[in-house]
Amino acid sequence: MRAIVDIMRLCPVIPVLVIDRVEDAAPLARALSDGGLKVLEVTLRTPAGLAAIAAMKAAAPDAVVGAGTVNSADLLHQAADAGAEFIVAPGLTESLAKAAKARSLPFLPGVATAGDILRGLELGLGAFKFFPAETIGGVPALKALEGPFSGLDICPTGGVTLANAPSYLALPSVRCVGGSWITPKSLIAAQDFAAVTRLAAEAAALPRS
Ligand code: 3PG
Repeated sequence: MRAIVDIMRLCPVIPVLVIDRVEDAAPLARALSDGGLKVLEVTLRTPAGLAAIAAMKAAAPDAVVGAGTVNSADLLHQAADAGAEFIVAPGLTESLAKAAKARSLPFLPGVATAGDILRGLELGLGAFKFFPAETIGGVPALKALEGPFSGLDICPTGGVTLANAPSYLALPSVRCVGGSWITPKSLIAAQDFAAVTRLAAEAAALPRS
């Protein structure tokens, strides 16, 4: 099993994908991978999510495909059965952390406060999604948390864009950012996967510290 931090280091941006039609999964995976984004988070907030994981892995074998919006241990097991290679959750619970460990799956839970981080550390975790990043204070808030907590591996997500991503990626704790801006619903509806590849290439070229 790859450690979550190794997955976070692969690309500067993890696209957060909301897939309404499973038919879109394969061309989307190819478009993102062609643009240089090799770590894909398929949110399980649509019925197509679970099936999209396998479709994306088949279409882009060089991509690492994980599940996001994993809100319960039960859903984590479903994601594992569907072939998810890592798990993202909007928050942290003990049952999610235990289920991820039981399934040997790299786990990236959301944290928003120092208390959340302490709980994560107590559970043996060191990599977190800082969520929802822009709403909870953005770069200054994360910078402040880097004071007491050195050595964390962070993926800010929520309100991150091509424009503000560089200021997050410049922070010492940040390995990558997550965001949905690479796959706008309008481009998917128009089946404009070439445009998705262009957005992915811009994101993949973002510098990291
Ligand atoms: C989410 O879980 O929806 C992600 O945080 C994506 O946020 P964004 O749409 O603001 O990029």
